[in-house]
Amino acid sequence: MRVQVAIVGGGPAGHLLGQLLYKAGIEAIVLEQRSQDYVLGRIRAGVLEQVTTDLLDQAGVGERLHSEGLVHNGFALGFGGASHRIDLQTLSGGKHVMVYGQTEVTRDLMAARAAEGLQTIYEAHNVSLHDFDSERPRVRYEKDGQSHEIQCDFIAGCDGYHGVSRASVPAGALQTYERVYPFGWLGVLSDTPPVSDELIYANHARGFALCSMRSHTRSRYYVQCALDDKVEHWSDDAFWDELRRRLAPELAERLVTGPSIEKSIAPLRSFVAEPMRFGRLFLAGDAAHIVPPTGAKGLNLAASDVGYLARALTEFYAGSGPGRSAGIDHYSATCLRRVWKAVRFSWWFTSLMHKFPETGGFGQKVQEAELDYLIHSQAAATSLAENYVGLPLESW
Ligand code: APR
Ligand code: PHB
Repeated sequence: MRVQVAIVGGGPAGHLLGQLLYKAGIEAIVLEQRSQDYVLGRIRAGVLEQVTTDLLDQAGVGERLHSEGLVHNGFALGFGGASHRIDLQTLSGGKHVMVYGQTEVTRDLMAARAAEGLQTIYEAHNVSLHDFDSERPRVRYEKDGQSHEIQCDFIAGCDGYHGVSRASVPAGALQTYERVYPFGWLGVLSDTPPVSDELIYANHARGFALCSMRSHTRSRYYVQCALDDKVEHWSDDAFWDELRRRLAPELAERLVTGPSIEKSIAPLRSFVAEPMRFGRLFLAGDAAHIVPPTGAKGLNLAASDVGYLARALTEFYAGSGPGRSAGIDHYSATCLRRVWKAVRFSWWFTSLMHKFPETGGFGQKVQEAELDYLIHSQAAATSLAENYVGLPLESW
Protein backbone atom coordinates (compact mmCIF):
# COMPACT_ATOMS: atom_id res chain seq x y z
CA MET A 1 0.00 0.00 0.00
CA ARG A 2 0.95 3.66 -0.35
CA VAL A 3 0.35 6.57 2.06
CA GLN A 4 1.81 10.03 2.42
CA VAL A 5 3.09 9.52 5.98
CA ALA A 6 3.84 6.28 7.85
CA ILE A 7 3.72 6.85 11.62
CA VAL A 8 5.65 4.29 13.68
CA GLY A 9 4.28 4.11 17.25
CA GLY A 10 0.74 4.63 18.51
CA GLY A 11 1.41 6.39 21.83
CA PRO A 12 0.32 9.99 22.39
CA ALA A 13 2.88 11.41 19.91
CA GLY A 14 1.93 9.08 17.04
CA HIS A 15 -1.80 9.43 17.62
CA LEU A 16 -1.71 13.22 17.95
CA LEU A 17 0.34 13.48 14.75
CA GLY A 18 -2.14 11.23 12.94
CA GLN A 19 -5.02 13.46 13.97
CA LEU A 20 -3.24 16.75 13.12
CA LEU A 21 -2.33 15.39 9.68
CA TYR A 22 -5.89 14.18 9.11
CA LYS A 23 -7.20 17.69 9.88
CA ALA A 24 -4.69 19.05 7.32
CA GLY A 25 -5.87 16.58 4.67
CA ILE A 26 -2.72 14.44 4.80
CA GLU A 27 -3.10 10.67 4.71
CA ALA A 28 -1.27 8.63 7.34
CA ILE A 29 -1.19 5.14 8.80
CA VAL A 30 -0.19 4.34 12.41
CA LEU A 31 1.77 1.15 13.16
CA GLU A 32 1.78 0.12 16.83
CA GLN A 33 3.53 -3.01 18.08
CA ARG A 34 1.28 -3.49 21.13
CA SER A 35 -2.47 -3.93 21.55
CA GLN A 36 -4.76 -0.97 22.18
CA ASP A 37 -5.46 -2.17 25.75
CA TYR A 38 -1.75 -2.42 26.50
CA VAL A 39 -1.13 1.16 25.33
CA LEU A 40 -4.05 2.39 27.44
CA GLY A 41 -2.81 0.48 30.49
CA ARG A 42 0.28 2.67 30.92
CA ILE A 43 0.03 5.27 33.70
CA ARG A 44 1.95 8.45 32.96
CA ALA A 45 2.01 12.09 34.09
CA GLY A 46 -1.01 14.31 33.62
CA VAL A 47 -0.16 18.00 33.45
CA LEU A 48 -0.83 19.68 30.10
CA GLU A 49 0.63 23.00 29.01
CA GLN A 50 -1.57 25.43 27.09
CA VAL A 51 0.50 24.71 23.94
CA THR A 52 -0.55 21.06 24.31
CA THR A 53 -4.24 21.75 24.93
CA ASP A 54 -4.23 24.11 21.91
CA LEU A 55 -2.81 21.29 19.74
CA LEU A 56 -5.41 18.84 21.10
CA ASP A 57 -8.12 21.38 20.20
CA GLN A 58 -6.61 21.73 16.71
CA ALA A 59 -6.69 17.93 16.44
CA GLY A 60 -10.41 18.01 17.29
CA VAL A 61 -10.14 16.09 20.57
CA GLY A 62 -10.54 18.91 23.11
CA GLU A 63 -14.11 18.27 24.19
CA ARG A 64 -13.70 15.82 27.09
CA LEU A 65 -10.44 17.49 28.09
CA HIS A 66 -12.24 20.80 28.60
CA SER A 67 -15.22 19.27 30.40
CA GLU A 68 -13.35 16.83 32.69
CA GLY A 69 -9.84 18.32 32.91
CA LEU A 70 -8.98 20.42 35.95
CA VAL A 71 -7.63 23.95 35.41
CA HIS A 72 -4.71 24.59 37.77
CA ASN A 73 -3.65 28.19 38.35
CA GLY A 74 -0.87 27.32 40.77
CA PHE A 75 1.03 24.61 42.63
CA ALA A 76 2.87 24.40 45.95
CA LEU A 77 6.50 23.93 46.89
CA GLY A 78 6.80 22.03 50.19
CA PHE A 79 9.92 22.41 52.35
CA GLY A 80 10.93 23.25 55.91
CA GLY A 81 7.64 21.93 57.32
CA ALA A 82 5.35 24.25 55.29
CA SER A 83 3.94 24.66 51.78
CA HIS A 84 4.30 27.78 49.67
CA ARG A 85 2.09 28.53 46.69
CA ILE A 86 3.49 29.43 43.27
CA ASP A 87 0.78 31.49 41.59
CA LEU A 88 1.20 30.40 37.97
CA GLN A 89 -1.50 32.66 36.63
CA THR A 90 -0.19 35.92 38.09
CA LEU A 91 3.46 35.08 37.47
CA SER A 92 3.00 33.90 33.85
CA GLY A 93 0.70 36.63 32.62
CA GLY A 94 -2.57 34.71 32.80
CA LYS A 95 -1.57 31.19 31.82
CA HIS A 96 -2.50 27.94 33.54
CA VAL A 97 -2.00 24.19 33.15
CA MET A 98 -4.64 21.46 32.82
CA VAL A 99 -4.57 18.29 34.91
CA TYR A 100 -5.82 15.49 32.64
CA GLY A 101 -4.17 12.06 32.48
CA GLN A 102 -1.98 11.12 29.53
CA THR A 103 -3.94 7.87 29.31
CA GLU A 104 -7.13 9.89 28.74
CA VAL A 105 -5.42 12.02 26.07
CA THR A 106 -4.41 8.83 24.24
CA ARG A 107 -7.89 7.33 24.66
CA ASP A 108 -9.52 10.45 23.15
CA LEU A 109 -7.10 10.44 20.21
CA MET A 110 -7.69 6.74 19.55
CA ALA A 111 -11.47 7.24 19.66
CA ALA A 112 -11.29 10.18 17.22
CA ARG A 113 -9.15 8.13 14.83
CA ALA A 114 -11.54 5.20 14.97
CA ALA A 115 -14.57 7.48 14.49
CA GLU A 116 -13.06 8.84 11.25
CA GLY A 117 -12.32 5.30 10.05
CA LEU A 118 -8.55 6.01 9.94
CA GLN A 119 -6.17 3.07 9.94
CA THR A 120 -4.12 2.00 12.95
CA ILE A 121 -2.46 -1.39 12.80
CA TYR A 122 -2.09 -2.71 16.34
CA GLU A 123 0.21 -5.65 17.07
CA ALA A 124 2.33 -4.80 14.03
CA HIS A 125 5.48 -6.86 14.59
CA ASN A 126 9.05 -6.57 13.30
CA VAL A 127 8.52 -3.06 11.97
CA SER A 128 11.52 -2.03 9.85
CA LEU A 129 12.38 1.26 8.14
CA HIS A 130 13.99 1.44 4.68
CA ASP A 131 15.36 4.01 2.21
CA PHE A 132 14.52 7.09 4.28
CA ASP A 133 17.63 8.72 2.79
CA SER A 134 15.80 8.64 -0.58
CA GLU A 135 12.52 10.16 -1.81
CA ARG A 136 10.82 6.76 -1.63
CA PRO A 137 10.94 5.50 1.97
CA ARG A 138 9.32 2.17 2.86
CA VAL A 139 8.17 0.57 6.09
CA ARG A 140 7.75 -3.17 6.48
CA TYR A 141 5.90 -5.01 9.22
CA GLU A 142 4.32 -8.36 10.03
CA LYS A 143 0.79 -8.90 11.20
CA ASP A 144 -0.81 -12.28 11.94
CA GLY A 145 2.17 -14.01 10.32
CA GLN A 146 1.89 -12.05 7.04
CA SER A 147 4.47 -9.56 5.75
CA HIS A 148 3.36 -6.12 4.54
CA GLU A 149 5.10 -3.17 2.93
CA ILE A 150 4.06 0.49 3.00
CA GLN A 151 5.46 2.96 0.49
CA CYS A 152 5.37 6.54 1.73
CA ASP A 153 6.76 10.07 1.32
CA PHE A 154 7.83 10.42 4.95
CA ILE A 155 8.26 8.31 8.08
CA ALA A 156 7.47 9.72 11.54
CA GLY A 157 9.33 7.83 14.29
CA CYS A 158 7.00 8.21 17.28
CA ASP A 159 7.91 4.86 18.84
CA GLY A 160 9.31 5.94 22.18
CA TYR A 161 12.70 5.49 23.81
CA HIS A 162 12.99 1.75 22.99
CA GLY A 163 11.61 2.01 19.47
CA VAL A 164 13.05 0.94 16.14
CA SER A 165 13.17 4.39 14.49
CA ARG A 166 16.13 5.92 16.33
CA ALA A 167 17.86 2.52 16.21
CA SER A 168 17.54 2.53 12.37
CA VAL A 169 19.69 5.64 12.00
CA PRO A 170 23.38 4.88 11.28
CA ALA A 171 25.21 5.30 14.60
CA GLY A 172 27.68 7.83 13.18
CA ALA A 173 24.85 10.18 12.19
CA LEU A 174 23.56 10.50 15.74
CA GLN A 175 24.88 12.39 18.75
CA THR A 176 23.37 11.48 22.12
CA TYR A 177 23.49 13.21 25.50
CA GLU A 178 22.43 11.49 28.69
CA ARG A 179 22.19 11.85 32.46
CA VAL A 180 20.88 9.04 34.63
CA TYR A 181 19.80 10.11 38.13
CA PRO A 182 20.76 8.01 41.16
CA PHE A 183 17.15 7.37 42.30
CA GLY A 184 13.66 6.49 41.09
CA TRP A 185 10.02 7.46 41.78
CA LEU A 186 7.67 5.04 43.50
CA GLY A 187 4.15 5.99 42.37
CA VAL A 188 0.75 5.04 43.77
CA LEU A 189 -2.66 5.63 42.21
CA SER A 190 -5.64 5.49 44.60
CA ASP A 191 -9.34 6.26 44.55
CA THR A 192 -9.06 8.79 47.35
CA PRO A 193 -9.66 12.57 47.24
CA PRO A 194 -6.42 14.53 46.64
CA VAL A 195 -4.83 15.99 49.79
CA SER A 196 -4.92 19.45 48.19
CA ASP A 197 -6.67 21.15 45.24
CA GLU A 198 -3.28 21.85 43.67
CA LEU A 199 -0.12 19.78 43.12
CA ILE A 200 2.53 19.79 45.86
CA TYR A 201 6.20 19.21 45.02
CA ALA A 202 7.95 18.53 48.35
CA ASN A 203 11.65 18.67 49.21
CA HIS A 204 12.50 16.74 52.39
CA ALA A 205 15.70 15.46 53.97
CA ARG A 206 14.29 11.91 53.50
CA GLY A 207 13.73 12.56 49.79
CA PHE A 208 11.30 14.12 47.31
CA ALA A 209 7.52 13.61 47.37
CA LEU A 210 4.79 14.69 44.93
CA CYS A 211 1.05 14.94 45.54
CA SER A 212 -0.82 14.92 42.24
CA MET A 213 -4.25 13.83 41.03
CA ARG A 214 -6.32 12.59 38.13
CA SER A 215 -9.69 13.93 39.35
CA HIS A 216 -11.44 15.10 42.53
CA THR A 217 -11.73 11.47 43.60
CA ARG A 218 -8.51 9.91 42.23
CA SER A 219 -5.04 10.77 43.53
CA ARG A 220 -1.54 10.11 42.25
CA TYR A 221 1.33 10.27 44.76
CA TYR A 222 5.06 9.66 44.42
CA VAL A 223 8.02 9.30 46.78
CA GLN A 224 11.68 9.28 45.74
CA CYS A 225 13.13 5.78 46.24
CA ALA A 226 16.40 3.94 45.65
CA LEU A 227 17.16 2.89 42.08
CA ASP A 228 17.31 -0.79 43.07
CA ASP A 229 14.16 -0.67 45.20
CA LYS A 230 11.31 -3.09 44.36
CA VAL A 231 7.56 -2.45 44.40
CA GLU A 232 7.13 -5.69 46.40
CA HIS A 233 9.08 -4.06 49.26
CA TRP A 234 6.41 -1.40 49.65
CA SER A 235 3.10 -2.28 51.28
CA ASP A 236 0.42 0.38 50.89
CA ASP A 237 0.83 1.27 54.59
CA ALA A 238 4.59 1.69 54.21
CA PHE A 239 4.02 4.00 51.23
CA TRP A 240 1.47 6.19 53.05
CA ASP A 241 3.72 6.40 56.14
CA GLU A 242 6.68 7.51 54.05
CA LEU A 243 4.61 10.06 52.14
CA ARG A 244 3.26 11.55 55.40
CA ARG A 245 6.79 11.94 56.78
CA ARG A 246 7.77 14.05 53.76
CA LEU A 247 4.78 16.42 53.92
CA ALA A 248 4.10 19.43 56.18
CA PRO A 249 2.34 18.20 59.38
CA GLU A 250 -1.04 19.79 58.58
CA LEU A 251 -1.06 18.10 55.16
CA ALA A 252 0.07 14.76 56.56
CA GLU A 253 -2.85 14.89 58.98
CA ARG A 254 -5.33 15.67 56.18
CA LEU A 255 -4.07 12.93 53.82
CA VAL A 256 -6.82 10.42 53.00
CA THR A 257 -5.35 6.99 52.31
CA GLY A 258 -6.81 3.88 50.71
CA PRO A 259 -5.83 0.78 48.76
CA SER A 260 -3.50 1.40 45.82
CA ILE A 261 -4.95 0.60 42.40
CA GLU A 262 -1.54 0.85 40.72
CA LYS A 263 1.96 0.93 42.15
CA SER A 264 5.16 1.17 40.11
CA ILE A 265 8.76 2.38 40.17
CA ALA A 266 10.19 4.51 37.37
CA PRO A 267 13.85 5.48 36.90
CA LEU A 268 14.73 9.11 36.11
CA ARG A 269 16.74 10.01 33.05
CA SER A 270 17.56 12.98 30.80
CA PHE A 271 18.38 11.98 27.21
CA VAL A 272 18.56 13.81 23.88
CA ALA A 273 19.43 12.46 20.42
CA GLU A 274 20.47 14.94 17.74
CA PRO A 275 19.50 15.67 15.05
CA MET A 276 15.79 14.79 14.96
CA ARG A 277 15.59 14.34 11.16
CA PHE A 278 17.51 12.06 8.79
CA GLY A 279 16.42 12.57 5.20
CA ARG A 280 12.73 11.65 5.21
CA LEU A 281 12.65 10.15 8.72
CA PHE A 282 11.59 12.40 11.60
CA LEU A 283 11.96 11.47 15.27
CA ALA A 284 9.36 12.88 17.68
CA GLY A 285 8.59 12.52 21.40
CA ASP A 286 10.33 9.91 23.56
CA ALA A 287 12.00 8.43 20.44
CA ALA A 288 14.24 11.52 20.44
CA HIS A 289 14.36 12.64 24.07
CA ILE A 290 13.51 11.73 27.66
CA VAL A 291 13.13 14.07 30.61
CA PRO A 292 12.73 13.18 34.29
CA PRO A 293 9.06 13.60 35.34
CA THR A 294 9.69 16.54 37.71
CA GLY A 295 7.72 19.29 35.97
CA ALA A 296 5.80 16.86 33.71
CA LYS A 297 7.39 17.93 30.42
CA GLY A 298 7.51 14.51 28.63
CA LEU A 299 4.08 14.52 27.02
CA ASN A 300 4.21 18.28 26.41
CA LEU A 301 7.46 17.96 24.46
CA ALA A 302 6.05 15.06 22.45
CA ALA A 303 3.06 17.27 21.59
CA SER A 304 5.16 20.27 20.55
CA ASP A 305 7.40 18.06 18.35
CA VAL A 306 4.42 16.67 16.46
CA GLY A 307 2.88 20.15 16.31
CA TYR A 308 6.00 21.35 14.49
CA LEU A 309 6.06 18.23 12.31
CA ALA A 310 2.41 18.59 11.28
CA ARG A 311 3.11 22.23 10.41
CA ALA A 312 6.18 21.30 8.33
CA LEU A 313 4.34 18.55 6.41
CA THR A 314 1.27 20.75 5.86
CA GLU A 315 3.51 23.46 4.35
CA PHE A 316 5.22 20.83 2.19
CA TYR A 317 2.02 19.40 0.72
CA ALA A 318 0.33 22.81 0.32
CA GLY A 319 3.33 24.56 -1.22
CA SER A 320 5.27 24.42 -4.45
CA GLY A 321 8.90 24.99 -5.43
CA PRO A 322 11.93 24.55 -3.17
CA GLY A 323 10.46 26.86 -0.47
CA ARG A 324 7.94 24.20 0.49
CA SER A 325 10.67 22.22 2.26
CA ALA A 326 11.61 25.06 4.66
CA GLY A 327 9.70 23.57 7.60
CA ILE A 328 11.15 20.12 6.96
CA ASP A 329 14.66 21.57 6.87
CA HIS A 330 14.13 23.53 10.09
CA TYR A 331 12.20 20.81 11.98
CA SER A 332 15.13 19.40 13.94
CA ALA A 333 16.73 22.69 15.01
CA THR A 334 13.38 24.25 15.93
CA CYS A 335 12.33 21.23 18.03
CA LEU A 336 15.73 20.97 19.70
CA ARG A 337 15.68 24.59 20.92
CA ARG A 338 12.48 23.85 22.85
CA VAL A 339 13.60 20.36 23.85
CA TRP A 340 16.84 21.60 25.41
CA LYS A 341 15.02 24.30 27.38
CA ALA A 342 12.65 21.67 28.80
CA VAL A 343 15.59 19.33 29.46
CA ARG A 344 17.30 22.17 31.32
CA PHE A 345 14.16 22.97 33.33
CA SER A 346 13.43 19.32 34.25
CA TRP A 347 17.07 18.76 35.27
CA TRP A 348 17.06 21.93 37.38
CA PHE A 349 13.73 21.12 39.09
CA THR A 350 14.89 17.53 39.70
CA SER A 351 18.19 18.77 41.18
CA LEU A 352 16.39 21.26 43.44
CA MET A 353 13.80 18.85 44.84
CA HIS A 354 15.57 15.48 45.34
CA LYS A 355 17.92 14.08 47.92
CA PHE A 356 21.33 13.44 46.34
CA PRO A 357 23.14 11.13 48.74
CA GLU A 358 26.60 12.33 47.71
CA THR A 359 25.95 16.02 48.51
CA GLY A 360 24.86 15.33 52.13
CA GLY A 361 23.77 18.06 54.56
CA PHE A 362 25.47 20.77 52.49
CA GLY A 363 23.39 19.91 49.43
CA GLN A 364 20.18 19.91 51.49
CA LYS A 365 20.95 23.38 52.94
CA VAL A 366 21.71 24.83 49.50
CA GLN A 367 18.40 23.43 48.18
CA GLU A 368 16.49 24.98 51.10
CA ALA A 369 18.19 28.34 50.48
CA GLU A 370 17.21 28.22 46.80
CA LEU A 371 13.62 27.26 47.67
CA ASP A 372 13.45 30.16 50.16
CA TYR A 373 14.83 32.47 47.44
CA LEU A 374 12.24 31.16 44.95
CA ILE A 375 9.27 31.93 47.17
CA HIS A 376 10.54 35.41 48.11
CA SER A 377 11.95 36.61 44.79
CA GLN A 378 9.45 37.57 42.12
CA ALA A 379 12.17 37.21 39.47
CA ALA A 380 13.01 33.63 40.50
CA ALA A 381 9.35 32.61 40.89
CA THR A 382 8.52 34.14 37.48
CA SER A 383 11.19 32.01 35.82
CA LEU A 384 9.82 28.86 37.48
CA ALA A 385 6.23 29.71 36.48
CA GLU A 386 7.14 30.63 32.89
CA ASN A 387 8.84 27.27 32.36
CA TYR A 388 6.18 25.27 34.22
CA VAL A 389 3.29 26.59 32.09
CA GLY A 390 5.42 25.97 28.99
CA LEU A 391 7.47 28.10 26.63
CA PRO A 392 5.76 29.26 23.40
CA LEU A 393 6.14 27.57 20.02
CA GLU A 394 8.42 29.38 17.58
CA SER A 395 8.18 30.08 13.88
CA TRP A 396 10.85 28.45 11.66
N1 APR B 1 7.10 -0.70 16.27
C1 APR B 1 5.89 -0.13 16.48
N2 APR B 1 5.58 0.53 17.62
C2 APR B 1 6.51 0.62 18.56
C3 APR B 1 7.81 0.07 18.39
C4 APR B 1 8.08 -0.63 17.19
N3 APR B 1 9.27 -1.18 16.97
N4 APR B 1 8.53 0.32 19.50
C5 APR B 1 7.73 1.00 20.33
N5 APR B 1 6.51 1.19 19.78
C6 APR B 1 5.34 1.86 20.37
C7 APR B 1 5.18 1.60 21.86
O1 APR B 1 4.50 0.39 22.11
C8 APR B 1 4.37 2.81 22.30
O2 APR B 1 2.99 2.59 22.24
O3 APR B 1 5.51 3.26 20.28
C9 APR B 1 4.74 3.90 21.28
C10 APR B 1 5.55 5.02 21.91
O4 APR B 1 4.77 5.66 22.88
P1 APR B 1 5.39 6.40 24.17
O5 APR B 1 6.50 5.58 24.72
O6 APR B 1 4.27 6.75 25.05
O7 APR B 1 6.09 7.71 23.55
P2 APR B 1 5.46 9.06 22.95
O8 APR B 1 4.25 8.77 22.13
O9 APR B 1 6.62 9.79 22.37
O10 APR B 1 4.92 9.84 24.21
C11 APR B 1 5.72 10.57 25.07
O11 APR B 1 5.00 9.28 26.89
O12 APR B 1 6.75 8.06 27.78
C12 APR B 1 5.89 9.12 27.99
O13 APR B 1 6.95 10.64 29.44
C13 APR B 1 6.64 10.34 28.12
O14 APR B 1 4.78 11.59 28.49
C14 APR B 1 5.71 11.28 27.51
C15 APR B 1 5.06 10.58 26.41
C1 PHB C 1 1.40 12.93 37.69
O1 PHB C 1 0.28 13.36 37.98
O2 PHB C 1 1.60 11.73 37.44
C2 PHB C 1 2.52 13.92 37.64
C3 PHB C 1 2.26 15.26 37.84
C4 PHB C 1 3.30 16.17 37.80
C5 PHB C 1 4.58 15.73 37.57
C6 PHB C 1 4.84 14.39 37.35
C7 PHB C 1 3.81 13.46 37.39
O3 PHB C 1 5.60 16.64 37.56
